[in-house]
Amino acid sequence: MAVAWPYASGSRHLGHLAGAYLPADIFGRYQRAIGNDALMVSGSDVHGTPITVRADDEGVEPQVIVDRYHNEFVAQWEKLGFDWDLFTTTGTANHHAVTQDMFLKLLSGGHIDKRTSNQFYDPQADRFLPDRYVEGTCPHCGYAEARGDQCENCSRTLDPIDLIEPRSRLTGATPEERATDHFYLRLSDFSDELKQWLLSREGWRKHVLNFSLGWIEEGLHDRAITRDIEWGVEIPVDDLGPGKRIYVWFDAVIGYLSASKEWSQIQGTPDAWKEWWENAESEHYYFIGKDNIPFHTIIWPAILLGYGGLNVPTDVPANQFVTFKGGKASASRGIGLTIGGALDRYEPDALRYALASNFPETSDVDITEAELVRRINDELVATWGNLVNRVVSMTHRYFDGAVPAPGPTSEVDATALEAVDGALAEASQHLAAVRLRAGLATLLGGAQATNQYLSEMEPWKTAKTDMERTGTTLFTALQCISGLAAAFAPYLPATSNKVLDTIGLDTTSRQPAWERREVAAGTNLGPAVPLFSKVELPQDAE
Ligand code: MF3
Ligand code: ZN
Repeated sequence: MAVAWPYASGSRHLGHLAGAYLPADIFGRYQRAIGNDALMVSGSDVHGTPITVRADDEGVEPQVIVDRYHNEFVAQWEKLGFDWDLFTTTGTANHHAVTQDMFLKLLSGGHIDKRTSNQFYDPQADRFLPDRYVEGTCPHCGYAEARGDQCENCSRTLDPIDLIEPRSRLTGATPEERATDHFYLRLSDFSDELKQWLLSREGWRKHVLNFSLGWIEEGLHDRAITRDIEWGVEIPVDDLGPGKRIYVWFDAVIGYLSASKEWSQIQGTPDAWKEWWENAESEHYYFIGKDNIPFHTIIWPAILLGYGGLNVPTDVPANQFVTFKGGKASASRGIGLTIGGALDRYEPDALRYALASNFPETSDVDITEAELVRRINDELVATWGNLVNRVVSMTHRYFDGAVPAPGPTSEVDATALEAVDGALAEASQHLAAVRLRAGLATLLGGAQATNQYLSEMEPWKTAKTDMERTGTTLFTALQCISGLAAAFAPYLPATSNKVLDTIGLDTTSRQPAWERREVAAGTNLGPAVPLFSKVELPQDAE
């Protein structure tokens, strides 16, 4: 369970949350629910020009920016209930050491070599202009605001030197070219191996595979993995002289491994990471947005192959983009809600629900707050929240809050239970295949079926004439709720635990098991408290 490392360079927005972090948490929780071990690691990506450009703009040290946003992320994950094993940063001594070890092994294995190239230099600022210090027009798609490292429009990774009409982000000057030495990863050596590996992948999302194979078809180029910058992991050999560091995209992906090692150390079992990285049985899922695809399906696998002996990705279920009114969400350009902004407006589980039902798994998805509000009110509150509330309230009203013992059951009761069990089985298949959106829709269907059952049995009416029948209906509905709450738990962890507590089931395991546990007759239910509140569309809705 590897989750994209957010740049600690600014607030992240709902596109990031829906693109990578929330899907990972749901999938990890699901794995635990079905009894698998899961290790979920990530952290703040604290290097690279996104950080230093921001620090330059504010006139502060990069570390000030990093601390500010790392702390913000950690607080937000806490609110959202993310079940990380470790959310660290790439600024740790451990991460630097692991990165340097990989660099040295690739260097001695002949996968890294030194070359001289021309890079942009700003004569006014008297410095080189790596990556995002240069902006211009994308040579592939013509997008005019492309940044030197990657085009946000077509997702292609770029070399600043290839930008059309380049300009310095520092002074606006047209940069000039100067020769400089750098280390290169010999990516082209891995073309065939990567292609065969990609072609042998089963069940991958089409857009991920097509993009990756297309990249190889265009011809893999060796890539510089050092930069003229003073912020980053130190190069472990001093051939290049001062003023150079390892490139952020070389060190960031290594974070998956270094974080696993850090986690092992914190556990007091320093070798525990090997079970995840060296045991071929262990599966590796990478949760990322589509702009990160080439780094995870080509560059990181190449680094792993070059290093040797470590597991390559099992699947990279990258999400497409979330757009807001047609524009790609971007915190820096003020498009769409930030995670913090959304958490000010919506309860964490409600936000998780509304986003999960809109995950951009197969195509870009346009989200408006009206859509979030609709999902929360019309589905989450009206269907699931209401179901739990009604059944618990009626059990209090008619049976003093003690789960009634069922009388004779009929076909209808059995069908109600089958509908829920069927929904759990079907949703489980979706989740296992990382179709999280379909999984959620299936579970909502299960809640609808239970509501339908209640409408047919009308326990509020039978309570006047036939207490035994009323008891059977409520008993059955509580069993349905037990199964649904367990299966909703990966999506709605806090409220599912509340439901399970209310119906007297144990919630001390890290993740409730994916099953319909029996709610025993005689159990005293907790009070009927609403799970979610209806929300109003904010006046200043996005
Ligand atoms: N920091 C990068 C971004 O926000 C993602 C890095 S994912 C990594 O786009 F793990 F590979 F580092
Ligand atoms: Zn482009």
